[in-house]
Formats: sequence, structure tokens, C-alpha cells
Amino acid sequence: MADVDLIKSRLTAHPDFPKKGIVFLDIFPILREPSVFEALISHLEQHINSHTIALSPTKKVDVIVGLDARGFLLGPILALRLGAAFVPVRKAGKLPGQCIQASYEKEYGTDSFEMQADAIKPGQTVVVVDDLIATGGSAKAAGELVEKLGGKTLEYIFIIELLFLKASSKLNAPVYSIVQSE
Ligand code: ADE
Repeated sequence: MADVDLIKSRLTAHPDFPKKGIVFLDIFPILREPSVFEALISHLEQHINSHTIALSPTKKVDVIVGLDARGFLLGPILALRLGAAFVPVRKAGKLPGQCIQASYEKEYGTDSFEMQADAIKPGQTVVVVDDLIATGGSAKAAGELVEKLGGKTLEYIFIIELLFLKASSKLNAPVYSIVQSE
């Protein structure tokens, strides 16, 4: 619980960014303090380990999928700690080679996501990671990409969840968030 309070205390709110009516929650102050960043990564690592053990004592997470862009700050570190692969989901047109696509609507606009077609093997277990879940559109698109390649999403993991947008009902696996904002 102390780590949750520590992480929460470093989040900053920016009203009317990047558009009027949006209160932007910034996670970057966490990364400025190594001990707080460490507490964040350890918290997520322990959560993923206990969640996967609860699903099956012998099963490990094969792949951490990180969402463009702030999911790239957490995903590779978690993947290394867990002995898993890291796979990026990027905005369309950024990844080389054969890619698969899924489009989505977000809190402020629409976009299209891509994943490299050989990034996940059928049957692999996946945890999707990002800093914040708002409407859940981007997480849902990422889940669709995982599914198209035959992967199984075990969980969606975030630092912050905007509960009033009720995103978790759109997703095909449980959502875990450290901080919930009403
Ligand atoms: N992404 C979508 N909505 C957001 C918000 N309110 N704060 C930070 N990132 C976001």
C-alpha cells in the first residue's frame, strides 16, 4: 500500500491538455525519481507474477505488449524482469515488415494501430501494458491484434484507470490499475 501511495503522490493533473475538457494525468514525474520508478516497476512485476500464478501455477507470461507511446516506457523493463518478450504496438506506418492493423477511437480523436505479423506465436500468453486506460479503445485494438495472431491476453495493466469511462467492460480480459480516477 505504501508503494501505491508513493506512486499516486507523484502523478500530476493538467486541466485542458491537450484539448479543452481533458484533464491530462502525467506519469513522467514518477520516472524522474529512480526509487519511485523502481517501486512502480516492482509493483507491476509482482502483480503480474501473482495474477499468472493464480491462473495456472506452471504458466508464465510469454509476451508483454506495450502501447505507443508511454507503454514503451514500462513494457520493456517489465518484460526483462519477467523473462518475457517485448512487442510494441505502434501508430500505423511506423513499424517495418509485414504488419497487421486495428483501428480505434480514443478520448480525443481516432487512430490506427499496428503490430508486426510475426511478433506473437499462436498460443502465447500476453499482458498488455500502458500508462493509462481512458475509453479503452487503444487497449481493445491491441487485444484484437494479439487475438489475430493467435495469442491469449491474460490481463490489461495500467498505472491509471479513468473509471467513469467504463473501459474494462469492452475488453476480453481483466483490467488491473494501480490508481483509479473517478
Ligand atoms: N490518454 C487518454 N486520456 C488521457 C488523460 N486524461 N491523461 C493522460 N493520458 C491520457
